Amino acid sequence: MSRIVYVNGRYLPFAHAKVHVEDRGYQFGDGVYEVCEVRAGRLIDERRHLQRLERSLAELRIRMPMSMRALGIIVREVIIRNRIGYGIVYLQITRGVARRDHAFPSRPVQPSLVVTARALNKVRNEALAEKGIAVVTVPDNRWGRVDIKTIGLLPNVLARQAALERGARDAWFVDTHGIVTEASSANVWIVTSAGTLITRHADNAILRGITRTVLFDAIRAEGLAVEERAFTLEEAYRAREAFITSASQIVLPVVRVNDRIIGDGKPGPVAVLLRRAYHRFAEAG
Ligand code: PDD
Repeated sequence: MSRIVYVNGRYLPFAHAKVHVEDRGYQFGDGVYEVCEVRAGRLIDERRHLQRLERSLAELRIRMPMSMRALGIIVREVIIRNRIGYGIVYLQITRGVARRDHAFPSRPVQPSLVVTARALNKVRNEALAEKGIAVVTVPDNRWGRVDIKTIGLLPNVLARQAALERGARDAWFVDTHGIVTEASSANVWIVTSAGTLITRHADNAILRGITRTVLFDAIRAEGLAVEERAFTLEEAYRAREAFITSASQIVLPVVRVNDRIIGDGKPGPVAVLLRRAYHRFAEAG
């Protein structure tokens, strides 16, 4: 079965799904995106993801190309046409097509919308979570507004590639004060020796992950202690557990950071518990 992609008003076979060479997303990274999990054919946390999309667009003064309701219908249609049971949906909106000029187009243009969906391998993802992953750290040299989910991801791309080349699965960004901000495409959490969960407070230096937000509900319901604050790499080295959160991996244990083993080198009980609990707190639609 051929994959189907939604591009600017049409559902097209993958090979025919194209955007214009002067799309500002292509030329300037002038656009935003969202990734939602699909589970048992249902969209997870759609409302929150679409709210964040609206916020990202507003921050960049890009028009929403259609109503939220219409967008929700397209996203569902892409899931159905690709027969996704377990996987992800990717939505991208750029400022649109205009003659190359850094300033916004002088006349209003229609923003470009692309929606794709992809199946993920559940068995492989579960096996990864059972083993836990290794990460390396890289300097956080990103711009000052990574709270906006823009498609400009070059530092994230380079960080992930550096991780692979250093024998790890992912990279954590560390700022000039030695503080862990987030991972290349996920938020970072640690569990201290006292059993308290720590994740960095959400300001302009991290993306406020939807998985992160929903996880707070799970943490509260489980009666666990949690603090939203900056933590250093040194503190992470001493942590009992570490994990990352994102829509595509939910809760993924981290068992090694650079050359340091975290805890006993196996996924910790808090990460395992929260991974299992997550979908009781997420919205499925
Ligand atoms: N990434 N931080 C960054 C830099 C991210 O790119 C992401 C998500 C997150 C977690 O956000 P959420 O819980 O809403 O997925 C944090 C997506 C999955 C991606 O780029 O594929």
